[in-house]
Amino acid sequence: MPFKSGTREQRMLTRTIPASGEALPVIGCGTWRGFDVGSDAGARARLAEVLKVLFAAGGTVIDSSPMYGTAEGVVGALLTSMDPHAKAFVATKVWTQGRAAGVAQMEHSLELLQRPRLELMQIHNLVDWRTQLDTLRTWQAEGRVRYIGITHYTAGAHADLEAVIRAERLDFVQLNYSLEDRAAEQRLLPLAAERGVAVLVNRPLGGGSLARALRGRPLPGWAADIGCTSWTQVLLKFVISHPAVTCVIPGTGDPAHMADNVRAGLAPLPDPTLRTRIAAEWP
Ligand SMILES: NC(=O)c1ccc[n+]([C@@H]2O[C@H](COP(=O)([O-])OP(=O)(O)OC[C@H]3O[C@@H](n4cnc5c(N)ncnc54)[C@H](OP(=O)(O)O)[C@@H]3O)[C@@H](O)[C@H]2O)c1
Repeated sequence: MPFKSGTREQRMLTRTIPASGEALPVIGCGTWRGFDVGSDAGARARLAEVLKVLFAAGGTVIDSSPMYGTAEGVVGALLTSMDPHAKAFVATKVWTQGRAAGVAQMEHSLELLQRPRLELMQIHNLVDWRTQLDTLRTWQAEGRVRYIGITHYTAGAHADLEAVIRAERLDFVQLNYSLEDRAAEQRLLPLAAERGVAVLVNRPLGGGSLARALRGRPLPGWAADIGCTSWTQVLLKFVISHPAVTCVIPGTGDPAHMADNVRAGLAPLPDPTLRTRIAAEWP
């Protein structure tokens, strides 16, 4: 879907999911903290705006987890009340030990998210991954999830993610990557590209600390060359301009922040030379 940027209508950039060839918009929405609002009607109305901004800009990806308190239930209720289930690419996770507990948790997630099937089921932080992956393969074969993957959020776990990607056929990996946290560039991102694994990026704003640290600092002249009007957009464009990255999922519960974030999904992206200059901004 096109959206207005200045006077021109532009479409959000997409990347291809290697396993299927399906196009995925490059900016999504993380739900950790921001969507854990329970039944607070005012907070839910604000989050409905966040999702409207995402969808209006052509974004589709929403990432949640049973670990995020009430977030899955809030996402499910909002998607149902707004009726945009068809537009959403909903990703959640299994985060428990044991086969029976994993199945029960995933069944509960489907109920909370109010969907008969999910686009992506991930094994959160690799918890009991062998057991859960076995179940995920069965669910995928049955059509209850379209894609399967694994996640982590620290560089200390990259070797473990790498070992699983080498050993198993996976559709997605979700990992931490940002201007201040570039360890994934060394091995994981090239490996994902080599193995045909789509990459979701978490913690792109350093959990918010990077965005806060850069607030108020004047934007360099080159920011306008890549269409950026904020540091957040520079941070997100840095992430999605890595060729192995499929989609970035900044977490936000603020419609204005989402409006800022989706602008990073518009062309042009920084080329390798400009990526080096951006990296130099955060030595
Ligand atoms: N192990 C895992 O699988 C794992 C681990 C961590 C995260 N995740 C997923 O990845 C998502 C992203 O990670 P994260 O939420 O931890 O960190 P993040 O996306 O790096 O940062 C989120 C923080 O940035 C702020 N923010 C967002 N947009 C902004 C903007 N335009 N300007 C200024 N501040 C902005 C948010 O506050 P506001 O709400 O005020 O906008 C929030 O405090 C999570 O929400 C979750 O879905 C997965």
